[in-house]
Amino acid sequence: MPGTPTHEHVSLAEDWVASNYSPLPVVISHAEGAWVTDVEGRRYLDALAGYSALNFGHLHPGLVGVAKAQLERLTLTSRAFHSDRLGPFCRDLAALAGKELVLPMNTGAEAVETAIKTVRRWGYEVKGVPDGRARIVVMAGNFHGRTTTIISFSDDPVAHDHYGPYTPGFDTVPFGDVEALEAAITDDTVAVLLEPIQGEGGVILPPDGWLRDVRELSRRRGVLMVADEIQSGLGRTGTTFACDLEGVVPDVYVLGKALGGGIVPVSAIVADRDVLGVITPGSHGSTFGGNPLAAAVGQAVVGLLATGEFQQRARQLGALLDSGLRELVGHGVDAVRCRGLWAGVDLDPRLMTGREASHRLLERGVLVKDTHGSTVRIAPPLVVGEVEIQILLDAFAAILR
Ligand SMILES: Cc1ncc(COP(=O)(O)O)c(C=O)c1O
Repeated sequence: MPGTPTHEHVSLAEDWVASNYSPLPVVISHAEGAWVTDVEGRRYLDALAGYSALNFGHLHPGLVGVAKAQLERLTLTSRAFHSDRLGPFCRDLAALAGKELVLPMNTGAEAVETAIKTVRRWGYEVKGVPDGRARIVVMAGNFHGRTTTIISFSDDPVAHDHYGPYTPGFDTVPFGDVEALEAAITDDTVAVLLEPIQGEGGVILPPDGWLRDVRELSRRRGVLMVADEIQSGLGRTGTTFACDLEGVVPDVYVLGKALGGGIVPVSAIVADRDVLGVITPGSHGSTFGGNPLAAAVGQAVVGLLATGEFQQRARQLGALLDSGLRELVGHGVDAVRCRGLWAGVDLDPRLMTGREASHRLLERGVLVKDTHGSTVRIAPPLVVGEVEIQILLDAFAAILR
């Protein structure tokens, strides 16, 4: 609706949309690269990038071109038939991850569910855990999505409360604590599920060496290591996967968000045949999972990552972001955690909440998202340049003055 002002769009949404989010009062109507434009014609730097779903920016020309071409050819077959798109996509994604098989899904939560089902089956059919007893160790402060099973092991009351009865079979240990993890593993444990960096938690980094320790421990104790790289993966941290930061290869990668190029929901789990081979026809599926449009875009995304260009940009510009944010520590910022183009900034809670900071940054033309009290999460598209990083840093410094 051209010409409708911001407040009218906002009140329409308030009238008609269930309030499962509380968006900032900006109504976006166009976007390109790292920049979005609202209905009033104001431009904003998108420093959230759809929680990493827009790693390649808005309307990446190569991805849009592939999507448009596919839209005119074939969009959906269901998995009852083959399409000429799915095999090439899965081949390329498996190669990117150095694994043998891909199971495509749509949303991140579905991919996490797929990983949970796969490791449970693996536990019963390969490891020999008695049926119905499989347990998965998860991390305190996790965020893996919103399905009933996933929120069953969330310790965030907002996500968890009043949605029971909950799915059993999960044991929680502190994030980054390898001794607690070792103690939690029993004969019935089939997997450890972790985010290499906790995104929703506030870009929480584990202690150095923890991922390597988890890898060694899980191998030694005969449990699968499942890395939820939905937010941390696909270039965000300056490497293809955040696990690469420690040279670790998990048994199962869980991918989503950026895999769809910001165009369509595309998610997947990627693993070797000895794990994913437990999935048999009819035992798991999705009408839309691996559809030709998703597969075409996903394959193009993998092609972008295969060049290494985006990982390199994230490393180089991430160093700028990191050093610029660090200069703010002691001037209204308590702590900064940065990996690649991904940062969690803890503001001095006496100064303002993360929500207030997001509002103030919005007024200065920068879009970010608060998380947990006084923390702001920054994750610009990997197509930003030095100019955009400086705009972001200047805006941040300005709101602290
Ligand atoms: C680490 C992680 N896992 C899973 C999800 C869920 O993805 P989706 O919202 O696509 O279901 C998210 C979303 O933020 C995430 O950050």
